[in-house]
Amino acid sequence: MIDLQLNSEGKLKHFLTIEGLNKEILTEILDVAESFSSMSSQRVKKVPLLRGRTIVNLFFENSTRTRTTFELAATRLSADVLSINIAASATSKGESLLDTINNLEAMFVDMFVVRHGISGAGHFIAQHTAPHISVINAGDGQHAHPTQAMLDMFTIRQYKQKFDHLKVAIIGDILHSRVARSQIRALNTLGVKDVRVIAPKTLLPQFVENLGVTSFNDIEEGLVGSDVIIMLRLQKERMTSALLPTEREYFKCFGLTEKRLKLANPDAIVMHPGPINRGVEIESSIADGPQSVILQQVTNGVAVRMAIMSLVIQPKGNVS
Ligand code: CP
Repeated sequence: MIDLQLNSEGKLKHFLTIEGLNKEILTEILDVAESFSSMSSQRVKKVPLLRGRTIVNLFFENSTRTRTTFELAATRLSADVLSINIAASATSKGESLLDTINNLEAMFVDMFVVRHGISGAGHFIAQHTAPHISVINAGDGQHAHPTQAMLDMFTIRQYKQKFDHLKVAIIGDILHSRVARSQIRALNTLGVKDVRVIAPKTLLPQFVENLGVTSFNDIEEGLVGSDVIIMLRLQKERMTSALLPTEREYFKCFGLTEKRLKLANPDAIVMHPGPINRGVEIESSIADGPQSVILQQVTNGVAVRMAIMSLVIQPKGNVS
């Protein structure tokens, strides 16, 4: 999976996972995103970088933020964008994923942006598409959500400038979270030495420390001194057995409240990839409060996705 992402010159060809990408590549994405970010405040928000290219959004799972920011990002890069309505596509008549891809490829497309419920779907597509086509993973099962992780890194850098001195706490359903897996990889690669995951034992993967984190089952203990707090929702759609008593009980033990937030550093930022469940993992006043950067994350999603699309696109005629 690792080599598949890079072309023969060591440049990004697909963007499927943070795994295997070095600090230079991640920093390049952040730097390119920075230049696109300043463009958002200009009257004309378009650049011709992907003019004449066709990008297909294939979302087999629901999405609000990722899908729309990808669409907007592609439009701002002047690409032609097709967003396939999967519910109204031939998938409902039994067409396989590969046949869907082959048919779209026959229309001379340049890039697939794929969200799928099965881990590894983006990787599978990247292995089976023509060499000039790039694939971006917009979330696959419980495996990875690398563009979300990069917009989160961009947001952290925007508020905190450097990574190495930070204490980052990720709180919630780590077990089912593709976002958390990608964030942990990105934080470690960018030099964060203190990454904490905070969750009940039932929502932590076995041997989670092997990912390069410290685990806590007590939110108050884990929050002390944090600079960045990342809240995650309970992914009930991925829970196959009862892992929690009730949502009310979960909020009592693991919800981020005003009182608990005071345990973090006074200038700590509060993040959430969304969708948020108010009163389940986070108190509403914090989600809307002065330390929340949740909507800024969404804003940054456009610039970061523009950066990733512009970096993976293959020069015309390059099939390496
Ligand atoms: N953060 C995220 O992936 O949100 P969506 O499901 O709305 O895309």
